[in-house]
Amino acid sequence: MSLAESFLKKVPQYTRNKRHLTSVLQHGTPRKWANLARLELERKAARVELKAHPYLMIIDPCNYCNLSCPLCPTGLNDLGRPQAMLSFAHFKKYFDAFSPYLFEAYMHNWGESLLNKQVYSMIDYAQKHNVGTNLSSNFVKLDSRDLDNIIDSGLEYLIVSLDGTSQESYKEYRIGGNYEVVVNNLSELIRRRNLRKKKTPVVEWQFIVMKQNEHQIGEAEVLSKKIGVDLMRFIPVGMPYEFQNRKEVADKWFPATVEGRVKSNHEEQQFGQAGKPGPCFYLYRSVVVNPDGGVSPCCIVYRKNRDFADLNVDSFDPMKIWNNEKYQSARSLYSSTIIPNRRTTVCDGCDIFERHPSKKLKAAPENNLVTIS
Ligand SMILES: C[S@@+](CC[C@H](N)C(=O)[O-])C[C@H]1O[C@@H](n2cnc3c(N)ncnc32)[C@H](O)[C@@H]1O
Ligand code: SF4
Ligand code: SF4
Repeated sequence: MSLAESFLKKVPQYTRNKRHLTSVLQHGTPRKWANLARLELERKAARVELKAHPYLMIIDPCNYCNLSCPLCPTGLNDLGRPQAMLSFAHFKKYFDAFSPYLFEAYMHNWGESLLNKQVYSMIDYAQKHNVGTNLSSNFVKLDSRDLDNIIDSGLEYLIVSLDGTSQESYKEYRIGGNYEVVVNNLSELIRRRNLRKKKTPVVEWQFIVMKQNEHQIGEAEVLSKKIGVDLMRFIPVGMPYEFQNRKEVADKWFPATVEGRVKSNHEEQQFGQAGKPGPCFYLYRSVVVNPDGGVSPCCIVYRKNRDFADLNVDSFDPMKIWNNEKYQSARSLYSSTIIPNRRTTVCDGCDIFERHPSKKLKAAPENNLVTIS
């Protein structure tokens, strides 16, 4: 293993995941690698004002959805943000500002991205600018052209959300979805990709383990091999940041068996970090852009009143945004640095990462995120 690879394997919660490591190697340039090294050093030193640029972008092509999942703010119609379709022109404007340092763009956040038919041009654009793309979809509302477009766009990694191996268990969470349709779409995509002898998109079947489907883990493993997905991944169920009745929700949805909990215990998928590392890596590595141009501090929070910037209003200098008062105020929670004119942000109530001892939360907030352990 090269020196660079062994450094990358140590970047917490990022390059330890093979998919991300592949992106860093495949889409890296000397400038991007130098930026990554600089950023990780700044993060370790808990710097508040950064010289390094974010190296991941989460950009949401739309926050509309065809399903009504009961633990998703979009499904609950409780996003607290106007719904919008991102136009290609706006995508390009936002993407171009950050792209020279990006390894990856996540082409989803709080909606069903494939409802926006411009998403294929966005993926193609990102790939042509040497930025890898991934996208998560419920894979329900597609036609034959969508399957070809997904392959032709150059999408590198596709996550298909399919939580169960029967309509009965699947429909409990994916309200409005149809199990058979998703399985057929998934199988057909893989068939066409293989027929064309293409390696991409790499296809992951993502199965959120919940009470109603935990008994189907074994069946899913068998079926995933039959369909030929590249990776079968069981992930823990989370709940929206703003939920208050967390215990009640956990009792209803969290798996009851040990197998359910163990199988879904993918560390990198957990919102709550088991060992509570600090500082919060979202505030260093990733810029999150919503379809209305609002910038969220991370992909966990969604309400517009939590935003750190508005790309349609604020000065469009990416480093000015990246080091604005809100970002610096939030990062200062992880450092001894006292900044003048500190702003209170959503991060002040967040208990996911380890704060600096001088900035500890007085009491655990109601709305922190629950970790399955
Ligand atoms: C909000 S969704 C948007 C993308 C797409 N609509 C989908 O569902 O795949 C983003 C990711 O969150 C996952 N997700 C949805 N509800 C979840 C929950 N309660 N716990 C953990 N992950 C969840 C989805 O499966 C998806 O991979
Ligand atoms: S399919 Fe995705 S965006 Fe739609 S409601 Fe479910 S989790 Fe939310
Ligand atoms: S809300 Fe929490 S996880 Fe999100 S950016 Fe702020 S500190 Fe990090």
